[in-house]
Amino acid sequence: MANNGDNILKPRVLILGGCGFIGRNLVSYLVSNKLVSFVRIVDKVPPQVAWLNSEHEAIFNCSSVEFRSANLINSVSCEYAFNCENGECWDFVVNCAGETKSNQTDPVYREGILKLSVNVAAQAAKYKVKHYVELSVGNMCSSSSTPHKEDGHIEPWTIIAKYKHQVELELKNIPGLNYTVLRPAVVYGIGDRSGLAPRILIGAIYKHLGETMKLLWSESLKLNTVHVIDVCRAIWHVCNRDDTLNKIYNVVDAGNSTQGSITAIVADIFNIEYNYLGSIMSTIAKTDMATVVDEVNDKHLIPWAEACKQDGVDNTPLTPYMSEELLFDRHLNLDGSALAATGFKLSIPELRKEYIQEIIDDYIKMKVFPQSLVA
Ligand SMILES: NC(=O)c1ccc[n+]([C@@H]2O[C@H](COP(=O)([O-])OP(=O)(O)OC[C@H]3O[C@@H](n4cnc5c(N)ncnc54)[C@H](O)[C@@H]3O)[C@@H](O)[C@H]2O)c1
Repeated sequence: MANNGDNILKPRVLILGGCGFIGRNLVSYLVSNKLVSFVRIVDKVPPQVAWLNSEHEAIFNCSSVEFRSANLINSVSCEYAFNCENGECWDFVVNCAGETKSNQTDPVYREGILKLSVNVAAQAAKYKVKHYVELSVGNMCSSSSTPHKEDGHIEPWTIIAKYKHQVELELKNIPGLNYTVLRPAVVYGIGDRSGLAPRILIGAIYKHLGETMKLLWSESLKLNTVHVIDVCRAIWHVCNRDDTLNKIYNVVDAGNSTQGSITAIVADIFNIEYNYLGSIMSTIAKTDMATVVDEVNDKHLIPWAEACKQDGVDNTPLTPYMSEELLFDRHLNLDGSALAATGFKLSIPELRKEYIQEIIDDYIKMKVFPQSLVA
């Protein structure tokens, strides 16, 4: 890569899992704000089949961006992902890669999260990377009343969180690794497929069905959120500060989002009615959660397919499928004050209708969402 002028002083960044939701937004943030001299994206999924929108595609095609295909579970592939033939190495490495699909078996997460992250962190130490950022998750403990702090009690309540916590512990044992762990809340924004996407799709399905949407538990269930742009800004913020080394930070907006606040926005967009089953009905449901989850998914998947067909959406990566864990009555309630104390300021302090609307507008532009449901 030809470096010239100011560029030579700017960092070279390796983004693992760069074709994913957070990864692609990070590449776009760094390149469009001219923060870096060079970015290498590594992913097992090539950009051509990653459902990038046209803006992300244009960024991926910039001369300062390179794509390298690698399966990071494999240590030889991992070595290749880091390898710099011209001797110039990485200032910062951000690990956005990992198994994020729900309903997988333990061995899949052990390899796809624990082994992957330990592999890449070991390479980052070997290459003496100035700062390695690991994306963990916020589901480390559930409490409705007390927002969880980074050093609070740990009781991971999703299987992904269980393995992410093991990664957090392993990173401490890698000699020479300069790292920061970030634990984001539910991340939403352009390209979202798993954060708020299932709730958006389910709102659309009830519009299609012309029925009242029924939700488990209550509106007070905490589902704290953060916009993807603030996750990208937080990554860049910690990369550039030595006082964040070897620490863990929650990344969460200040809106204290709940199931109620999110549902109110979705219902407003699709102009649908909704109500809650309440705690007694929900507790009955909990005794056989697996059946409830099957029923919920049966109820949504067929109308979703119908609505897509009706509007000529033949192929879409979006699915309203909700895993059992997504339907638990567990609170994602995070305290973001530690990151704020390092000087980090949110650019989007709370979830608002316009941000959900722009996700849907992008889906429609990409022809992956039935347009008639928002008309
Ligand atoms: N999206 C959220 O709401 C959210 C919230 C908290 C934490 N996180 C964490 O942030 C990280 C990124 O999340 P995301 O939403 O962008 O997920 P994503 O699934 O959209 O992206 C992950 C990327 O990693 C790649 N990948 C997976 N396994 C790989 C392998 N073996 N080798 C190479 N590439 C591989 C995938 O192909 C994908 O492009 C994940 O660790 C996730 O757990 C996400």
